[in-house]
Amino acid sequence: MSDLIEGYIGVTVERRKSRTPAKLDYLQSATGLILGLFMWGHMLLVSSILISKDFMYQITKLLEASFIIDGGSPLLVSATAIVIFAIFITHAALGMRKLPANFKQYQVMKAHANHMDHEDTKLWFTQAFTGFSMFFLGSIHLFIIMTNSDQIGPYASADRIWSEWMWPLYILLLLAVEFHGTIGLYRLCIKWGWFDGTDPRATRIKLKKIKKILTVFFLVLGFVTLAAYMKIGYDHAPNKGERYVPSAQIIEYTTTNKRLA
Ligand code: HEM
Repeated sequence: MSDLIEGYIGVTVERRKSRTPAKLDYLQSATGLILGLFMWGHMLLVSSILISKDFMYQITKLLEASFIIDGGSPLLVSATAIVIFAIFITHAALGMRKLPANFKQYQVMKAHANHMDHEDTKLWFTQAFTGFSMFFLGSIHLFIIMTNSDQIGPYASADRIWSEWMWPLYILLLLAVEFHGTIGLYRLCIKWGWFDGTDPRATRIKLKKIKKILTVFFLVLGFVTLAAYMKIGYDHAPNKGERYVPSAQIIEYTTTNKRLA
């Protein structure tokens, strides 16, 4: 009954406004924070290929918990991807509340942003555009990883990127993620006043600088990493499907055979 009254007159029976929008905002910030920090970790892990194929292989096995499960289990990666996908969908659903519902609303927002000529207000448009693109691009990537978690590794990932044509999708996803992620984390700091200190104005200027540096850092790291996978995938194309064998295993195999001989 109280829901019915609130639905019609916009206030509860106690004449209070609903707290639900504030709770949803909080949830949107929390899911955004998890995803933003996850993406930094994810980029550092994926870029392990820049050190060596062996290192990327070791990281993959580590994430499959090979230290407790013999040979590792890709199911753990699928499970993580399912959890991330659930957070991703929740965050996107909550973000939809902020999108204009019709042209009139869009026009009002655009006029407001242009009139104020305020950089942070304009950032909202970047967030809306990159967020919308990620609905499609992020979902494709997550679904493929979820259902092919046993196909991650120096050659398997490179084959997917080059021979299975994932690189155009990754270029767009990388751009969307890096802009959306750093802008999102910056806006979180401003919204909740995390680092305000005694001079919030000075903090905002500092945070803006950090945001720019982080965007450039992760974009450069992302594109160099993507180029590395593309090169490996290109060279490996004639043997597509063959899995990477780490150097340690080749040395072990060779020495064992020598001992047998
Ligand atoms: C548990 C969840 C995830 C896992 C296990 C995962 C795993 C991977 C792996 C192994 C790659 C290397 C390429 C490949 O094998 O296809 C990759 C690349 C990439 N992933 Fe994810 N990913 C996850 C979530 C996400 C999310 C949520 C996003 C963003 C919405 C994302 C964006 C990207 C991008 C942009 C690349 C290309 C990066 C580059 O090459 O520089 N990933 N991911």
